[in-house]
Amino acid sequence: VDSASFHALRGIVHRHSGIHLAATKMALVTARVGRRLRALGLSDVRRYLEYLEADETGAELSELLDAITTHFTSFFREPDHFTLLEAEARRLAAAGQRRLRVWSAACATGEEPWSMAMCLHRALEGVDIDWRLLATDLSRSALAVAEAGRYERERTAPIPPALAARYVRGDGEVRVVDEALRRYVVFGQLNLVEPLPLKGPLDVVFCRNVLIYFDAATRQDVVARIARLLAPGGLLVVSHAESLGSRPPGLEYVRPSVYRAVGADR
Ligand SMILES: C[S@@+](CC[C@H](N)C(=O)[O-])C[C@H]1O[C@@H](n2cnc3c(N)ncnc32)[C@H](O)[C@@H]1O
Repeated sequence: VDSASFHALRGIVHRHSGIHLAATKMALVTARVGRRLRALGLSDVRRYLEYLEADETGAELSELLDAITTHFTSFFREPDHFTLLEAEARRLAAAGQRRLRVWSAACATGEEPWSMAMCLHRALEGVDIDWRLLATDLSRSALAVAEAGRYERERTAPIPPALAARYVRGDGEVRVVDEALRRYVVFGQLNLVEPLPLKGPLDVVFCRNVLIYFDAATRQDVVARIARLLAPGGLLVVSHAESLGSRPPGLEYVRPSVYRAVGADR
């Protein structure tokens, strides 16, 4: 990729996903865009940029963003967050709350929301509470995997045995998330850098390992908009690799990677 084309690509990616590609990412971008060139049988990046511009369906833009972004995830990644989620659900239910709304805001291929659903189901079983988990991502191909809920056996290894025994089916190489969880989980495509088509109030939001790809201004904006959707006292959980600075508006720091919406004595 020549540097003019790199700048053009970088602009497109930033405009549509908020993802900031540093100049140091040029080799990575070259490799990943190279895959799109080969798939389309195009000879060079300028042709590719023309193709991208001419495609009014947005399909190639999705392919490009998919190729550029990292979908790495795993079941029970950063396990203390799931312990926290389960404790919060139990606490709210014990306090008499009858509705619980939880959001996995960059759910990738689904390991995160299915892990959350296992914890929530275990915590809230037998409780008279209306709970739902919304799981969204920018990538349609990642969402398709998430929604299928089918994973190679070795990917399911991090699921704690007690939860795997209850919520994962199949003995073969492919294991399937139990039907019992499905009615609680709603999947949808959502771009975090566009206006959020969600109604609050939300009790817990996981927005992990996606803010790192945004520049500082985009990150602040996304966090502020999520904070406005939280119920007073609602939790925002980011990754241990991410920091929101000392005073994100509307939020107070609880502990590393965990913030609470101000405004109530939960
Ligand atoms: C590294 S994965 C994180 C998955 C999971 N949250 C975790 O922590 O394991 C990052 C995900 O962010 C998604 N993503 C990137 N930009 C996005 C945007 N603007 N809006 C929504 N999702 C986005 C990517 O498609 C990718 O699936």
